[in-house]
This record gives sequence, C-alpha cells and structure tokens, in this order.
Amino acid sequence: MHAILRYSDSSHAGRRWRSIHLLLVGVGLLAIAISSTDGLPTRLADLLTIAVVGVALVFTAEYVLRLWSVPESPRFAGLSESMARLRWAVSTNGVICLLAALPFFAITLASIHADNENAAVFCIVWVLGLTRHAPAMGTLARVISNERATLTSVAVIFIMVLIVAATGAHIMERAGQPKLFGNLPDALWWAVVTLTTTGYGDVVPQTVGGKMIGSVVMVSGILVLALMTGILATGFAEEERRREYLRVWDQVTKVPMFAELGTVTLSEIVGKLRVRHYPARIVVVRRDEPGDSMFFIAEGEVEVRLPRGGIALGQGAFFGEMALLDRLPRSATVVTTGPATLLVLYASDFYEIASHIPSLVEAVEREARRRRAENQGDRSRVETS
Ligand code: CMP
Repeated sequence: MHAILRYSDSSHAGRRWRSIHLLLVGVGLLAIAISSTDGLPTRLADLLTIAVVGVALVFTAEYVLRLWSVPESPRFAGLSESMARLRWAVSTNGVICLLAALPFFAITLASIHADNENAAVFCIVWVLGLTRHAPAMGTLARVISNERATLTSVAVIFIMVLIVAATGAHIMERAGQPKLFGNLPDALWWAVVTLTTTGYGDVVPQTVGGKMIGSVVMVSGILVLALMTGILATGFAEEERRREYLRVWDQVTKVPMFAELGTVTLSEIVGKLRVRHYPARIVVVRRDEPGDSMFFIAEGEVEVRLPRGGIALGQGAFFGEMALLDRLPRSATVVTTGPATLLVLYASDFYEIASHIPSLVEAVEREARRRRAENQGDRSRVETS
C-alpha cells in the first residue's frame, strides 16, 4: 500500500492510482466550478454536491491509508510506528493530504453545499495535491537553491531599479498628478506595473522626464526577466545533466565491459552515455535504416532478427555497433523482448571515445568482426543451397 501511494512509484498500480487521482481532482474542480455559477437546476446542484463529496471521500480514504502505511517509508526508518505517523502528519505532504480530505467533513458536518461561496476554497486545496504529479518540483527547489546567489543579485537589481524609478517618477510627476504620484507607495505601484512589463495603463507619466524614466524602466524590466529566465533555464539544464550522470553511473556497473575500466576513463564514458528505458516489443533499430548510435544492455534482453532466425542478447551485451564502424545502414532489426534499460552512445561520441579509449573500441570491433563473419557464413550457405 505504501509503495502504491508513493508519489514516485513506477509500478503499474502506482501509475494507475496517480491517473485516478488526477481524474478525481479534475472531476472535483469541474464540479466546484460549475456549482459556482448561478441559477443551476436543483437536481444538477445536488448531483454536483454528490460528486464533490464523493471525490473528497476518496481523498479521506487516501489520507487514512497513507497515515496507516507511512511507517513503511525509509524516511522514517528507526522511528516507532506512532512517531512515524505523527512526523508524516505534520509534514508538508501530510498537511496537503489532510486538506484534500477536508471538503468531505466541511460538507457533511458543517452542511456547506458545493455551491456555497466558501466551497471555491476547495479548488485551492485540491490543486495543491497536484504537486505529486510534478516530480520536477524537487528539481525546481534544488535549482533555486543552487542559483540563489545569482537570483539574489538579480532580485537586488530589480529592487534598485524599482526604487530609483519610483522616486524619480514621484519627483517628476507629483506636481502634475498629485493623486497618482503624490507619495512614494503610489509611485512604487506604477514602477512595479511598468518594471514587470504588465502596464495596466491606470497610471501614466505625463512629463518628459517621467516618460524617459518610464522608457528606461520598461527596458530594464525586459532585461531583468530575461536574466531570471536564463539563470533558471541553465540551472535546470545543469541539474538535469547531473541527474542523468548519476542515472548512467548506476546502470554502467551492470555492463562488464565498462566495469574493467579505470575510474577516470569510466567517468569520461559516463558523461557521454544516455539511459533509455524501453517497454517490451519495441523496435530499437530497424534494418536498412541509417545508424547514429550504438546500445549497451544494462537490463533486460533484446532479439536481433536475422534471416536465419532471432539471436537473443542479454545484460552486458551491445548492439548497433556495425553501422557505426562500417558507416553502413543497419544490418538487422533489433527488438526488445521484455522491458529493457539501454545505454545509448551516439556516433559522434563513439568516434571521440575511439581515440581516447582504444581498448574498448577494439573489443567492440572484435565482436563486430565475429558477427559479420557469422552473417557472411549464413549468407553464403543460403546462396550455395
Ligand atoms: P547494426 O548493423 O548497426 O544494427 C543491427 C545490429 O544487430 C548490428 O549492428 C549488430 O550489433 C547486431 N547483429 C548483427 N548481426 C549479429 C549477429 N550475428 N549476432 C549478434 N548481433 C548481431
């Protein structure tokens, strides 16, 4: 139960539960949104209330099950069952989960109707639960933490421009528009609206000096937003690269060919490999298509489809090397027989590695020669018969 309810569970049941949860949130939000419109027929309003209570009831059951199963979590290892439950109940996740169940009690005990004005608050409560469908939320928090120094500098620039612009506009405009620029807080409102490039147009400078300040603020606003976007985007890319590196490092140990390499060489290769998960019966490479990559099998099995029949390749083996070495189209179709985890090495990286780690490429070449000879033998046998 704990595994299924875990946000990151990759099992079939876990994914199914997350889909159901998403559907329930959708139904609940739709029901509340429709309920908030005026003049609904009584039967429809009742139906919507039932929908909201139903959704909240499932979330109540979810809360109880989570609370019950949470001592299984490795996060609370070493704690007594009741202590683990208490710790979870007061954590952010626990509180969000409890809030999602609240509408049930609010509607049934305090007899609030789904069409009541207060019911709109349930929208916020349920929408908070959507965080579990965004696994990159943790990454975002890490990116903000990693980039906090740069982000703070940009925020400081933002505040400086804001205050200088507000003060300048206040000095220039206060005589002409005392109601709108008469004090600093009012001028700050104009500066925020302009610097964020929102521009409601409710407060507009009229003097030449005020307009000049306005122009500078607008351009600065674009620059500050562009800087923020750039910092966050590069931070995300960096974080993703680091995570991919760890994912590859984990898988690389399952391929004996790599296990023999020294740490320095290995870390160079790890930086060039990509982890790809394939479901069963998926064509990874197709015969006669151009080849731009080769694959190492970290988990699972694939079948190489040759004219004489299929050849199974298991964990630790590789395929797709012949197209890279011979610079010819793929010699066979390769299909996964079950779910497989493959490490992909793109052609450009393969050629680069060839000059740095000759032993690895020699081993690949040796196996490719053997395979070529095997296929050649097959072909000549077919031709003579
Ligand atoms: P490539 O030609 O790039 O794409 C198909 C792949 O199937 C090929 O590289 C080899 O990796 C693999 N392959 C071809 N023939 C054999 C064989 N006889 N035994 C094992 N694998 C093979």
